[in-house]
Amino acid sequence: MTESPNVLRTAIDDAFTAIGEVRERFAAPWKPREVGTVTSVATGIAMVSGLPGVGFEELVRLPGGVLGIAFNVDEDEVGVVLLGDYWLVHAGDEVQRTGRVVDVVVGDGLIGRVIDPLGEPLDGKGAVVSSGRRPIERSAPAIMDRAPVTVPVQTGLKVVDALIPIGRGQRELILGDRQTGKSTIAIDTILNQKDQNVVCVYCAMGQRASAVAKAVATLREKGAMDYTVAVVTEGNDPPGLNYIAPYAATSIAESFMDSGRDVLIVYDDLTHHARSYREISLLLRRPPGREAFPGDIFYIHSRLLERATHLRAGLGGGSLTALPIIETEAQDISAYIPTNLISITDGQIYLSPSLFELGVLPAVDVAKSVSRVGGDAQRAAYRSVAGDLKLAYAQFEELETFARFGASLDAATRATIDHGRRIRACLKQPEGEPVPVPEQIAILLGLTTKAFDPVPLDRMPEAERAVRAAAAGIPAEVSARLATAATLSEEDRKTIVTLVEHALAPFRPKAAATPEPPTAAKAKTEPAPAAAQANKS
Ligand SMILES: Nc1ncnc2c1ncn2[C@@H]1O[C@H](COP(=O)(O)OP(=O)(O)OP(=O)(O)O)[C@@H](O)[C@H]1O
Ligand SMILES: [Mg+2]
Repeated sequence: MTESPNVLRTAIDDAFTAIGEVRERFAAPWKPREVGTVTSVATGIAMVSGLPGVGFEELVRLPGGVLGIAFNVDEDEVGVVLLGDYWLVHAGDEVQRTGRVVDVVVGDGLIGRVIDPLGEPLDGKGAVVSSGRRPIERSAPAIMDRAPVTVPVQTGLKVVDALIPIGRGQRELILGDRQTGKSTIAIDTILNQKDQNVVCVYCAMGQRASAVAKAVATLREKGAMDYTVAVVTEGNDPPGLNYIAPYAATSIAESFMDSGRDVLIVYDDLTHHARSYREISLLLRRPPGREAFPGDIFYIHSRLLERATHLRAGLGGGSLTALPIIETEAQDISAYIPTNLISITDGQIYLSPSLFELGVLPAVDVAKSVSRVGGDAQRAAYRSVAGDLKLAYAQFEELETFARFGASLDAATRATIDHGRRIRACLKQPEGEPVPVPEQIAILLGLTTKAFDPVPLDRMPEAERAVRAAAAGIPAEVSARLATAATLSEEDRKTIVTLVEHALAPFRPKAAATPEPPTAAKAKTEPAPAAAQANKS
């Protein structure tokens, strides 16, 4: 009893000594906060003074919740690219440093969402669930971290899969004039990734809101949003937001790639991106370069596309395939921006307005299109037919021009032209209807074995449908071998060719020449031209 007050006293003394010590050691955490002032505001940019410590590309905070990137870091003035509405910012406003670069949310929670480059949802489905953040600019994987391209990306488009094959980890440019079906090729490729274990990122920059809405609606309708993230900026968004969009989208895609998955990213389109960057540069009074694009525009695009690759197995073996889109003007593929991108990418798919007008859709100009690495990844079954097909088609395109002048042609030339016309008919494809591999192989084998040649041209769509239907009869083990085998074996080839020939038998004029129907058909059709002539005269 007598001891307890003492114990209490020592305890209290100890406590007070400890508090005293802590108080002595305490120093108020004095953190200087660098604050600048807006000196002027223009569309999309603000000039700021008084931020001496700001770093290049550092994120700064302006009033009204507007963020900006320090883009021009001069001694006494900083050019800030605004990522929000410029009318919320006024001269004299306070600008704060954040000490970090622009980053974006990443993770599986983004799949199925439509977001802006800052990670804000645009689909009205509430906040985005993320598993972390990543800076939008990252250095590309080193050469030693990369592996060769070995697995194909099936686009579901016959003309691309057969003649301009794309591999996982490749960069393939899609270019063409306005309204030639560039976006459609990219969207169809995304649609065909269903159940392929590929995550897709669709990055739309500076497009009309209606075009973006249509693309996203198509993706949603066909169930492609189950494995797709859409990163969207529209035409009237600030140029700064447009500028960061592809980088943000790439960081999102890279996070999937780093977890060992295969990713496909579409940049729709980089012409708008180049224009936004030019706008920013000119507003910041940087000198214009060639064709009035800033001098570093090549670097802007190359550092973006260099991030697409196939990682080596030690790093998870993931891949990032990039499909950048570029709009040409008056079919000029040798203009400044298209040439830059052609030299950065591993090949290009060129869409021709004249083919589009002729109704040859997708309007891929095979002669001007190339895939420089995809051939290695192409499936054996395609490889066994691609060479013949490309040659026959190239010959046909050359001769077709002569045939137009009504020159009398020898039998061999006519046969080449007829064969070519059938190839062209078979490579046509409506949008949103990807063709599975076995059906494609059946059609392509039908073409290279010339089984389609006796079919009248106007019956080609019907004949093609018949072959596609017949492809369902390819035995399961043969179908499986089409996807995996190193070569197309002679028996498998025979199995498919027999199926195709059987399917095409009803379309051959000779086969149709069984007694009654043709005479009846002839009787019906023959008077027609005579009547037409009578009408004419
Ligand atoms: N294979 C096809 N079959 C039928 N129609 C098609 C096909 N490909 C494209 N189209 C149509 O052509 C039009 C232009 O296509 P798309 O929007 O893909 O072109 P674009 O080159 O991306 O245009 P923009 O220059 O405006 O971006 C669309 O109306 C589309 O429906
Ligand atoms: Mg488009």
